[in-house]
Amino acid sequence: MEPFFLSLFLILIFLISLSLFSFSSIFKSKSSTEQNSTDEKLHELPPGRTGWPFIGEGIEYLSLAKKGCIENFISTRKNKHNPMLFKTSLLGETVAVLCSAEGNKLLFSSENKLVKSWRPRNFGKIFDNSDKTSTIEETMRMRSLSIVIKESNSLQKYVEIIDQVAKDHLEKYWEGKEEVKVYFLARKFTFTLACKLMLNIEDPEVVEELQKLFDHIAKGFFSLPINIPGTTLNRAIRASREIRKKFLGMIKQRKIEIMEKTVLDYEANDIVSKLLLEKSKDGEGLNESEIANMILGLLVAAHDNTSVTVVSTVKYLAELPETYDKFHGEQKEIANSKGPEELLNFRDINEMKYSWNVICEVLRLQPPVIGTFREAITGFNYDGFLIPKGWKLHWFAYATHKNPKYFPEPEKFDPSRFEGNRLVPFTYVPFGEGPHKCPGRAFARLQILVFMHNLVNKFRWEKVFPDEQLIRDPLLVPTKGLPIRLYPQKP
Ligand code: HEM
Repeated sequence: MEPFFLSLFLILIFLISLSLFSFSSIFKSKSSTEQNSTDEKLHELPPGRTGWPFIGEGIEYLSLAKKGCIENFISTRKNKHNPMLFKTSLLGETVAVLCSAEGNKLLFSSENKLVKSWRPRNFGKIFDNSDKTSTIEETMRMRSLSIVIKESNSLQKYVEIIDQVAKDHLEKYWEGKEEVKVYFLARKFTFTLACKLMLNIEDPEVVEELQKLFDHIAKGFFSLPINIPGTTLNRAIRASREIRKKFLGMIKQRKIEIMEKTVLDYEANDIVSKLLLEKSKDGEGLNESEIANMILGLLVAAHDNTSVTVVSTVKYLAELPETYDKFHGEQKEIANSKGPEELLNFRDINEMKYSWNVICEVLRLQPPVIGTFREAITGFNYDGFLIPKGWKLHWFAYATHKNPKYFPEPEKFDPSRFEGNRLVPFTYVPFGEGPHKCPGRAFARLQILVFMHNLVNKFRWEKVFPDEQLIRDPLLVPTKGLPIRLYPQKP
């Protein structure tokens, strides 16, 4: 019997261990399935399409931009894929587009932790930062801005200069005319002003020559990345070299004047002089070629966005007579409070509350900068999806500006949205947010308000083409240059 019990015992042990093994392996396999599914979720990429190789979804993006309805690119994908984010491919890169206040908050507050600023490749080629001594970020962040423009003392001083340049501009190009094209004149005004404030250039011929070169640059930023003679990118690169050469000559000349004391410290209001003076004081600072690069970057950042905001404001005021009347009422009161030759001051600017709310609403409906890019410096999870390291991320102003959750009746022009502190954080972002928030915004506000003050106090106007729209080509432009008929204000 003994061998029988022994073999029975062994069989029993075998069966028990087998069942234990299978149970544990079942258990194990179940838990690893669970683990896998969590891992899979963590590794799931955002939903969306990357379109054609190399071109991605760029053609659809550009064609909607040209039709003036770029926001449809976002809304259709948001509705189809996910309201928080989707994946696409633009400018030869895989891009996650974040579409909510939470997404904006993530991008604007995770600089150098999860993301860093990224500009399309053409930017680097046009600014020629191949030597890495001055990256576009360095160029664009602009010590000069923090040193000069952001100081409220300087802003005070600039109000008078801007007012004088606006008055001269209107007298020369608008007064006595029945019809003008706002797009070209607004660009002329902001460029003339920028040349005066940054480089102390006033000669209209030099300004015009520089402006022609600048027009090539703006077109090159979002053009096809093909750099052979005849392409838009190639023209932009050559224009940028030419401008830097000219700037270098001007900067050297200014340096001589400063060293020979033919320009006194207090006369040196332009940014180049201030930067050169900074250098001569502490012996350090930027060299001439860095200053030339920086001024180029500043002019690019400053010029188009400000002028097109003036254009959009003129357009909306033509379409909305009641808004025009209130805007004009406020500006007329300020004008009436001044002496005959007295220029505007900073206090006047702070009185322009309704006018600024109108401009804020213009910037909500027609943000000159649709959004910019960041690059993921590490892989991370957002809303349950993986954003792999190296992917580009795009914040898109329309995603929040036209979301009824944040701006009820988003298509309605309503400046009262900006009364009080009612905005949800990270939803109103025409100037971006966080460490890269536009450092020129206070300066832009001055230029736009001062110009509009002078314009409404001189004219009423109507659009020559009532249906004319703004499109993106790729910058915001009116399809016909916004011609308007002018009616001088009665004294
Ligand atoms: C209405 C006019 C303007 C608008 C709507 C505007 C908008 C913007 C936006 C959206 C950004 C990008 C922020 C980001 O990437 O997160 C930016 C950056 C910048 N803007 Fe403006 N801007 C305007 C006028 C100006 C002016 C007048 C100047 C210079 C005097 C200027 C200088 C800059 C610079 C240097 C940057 C780069 C900042 C950085 O990357 O750290 N902008 N602007």
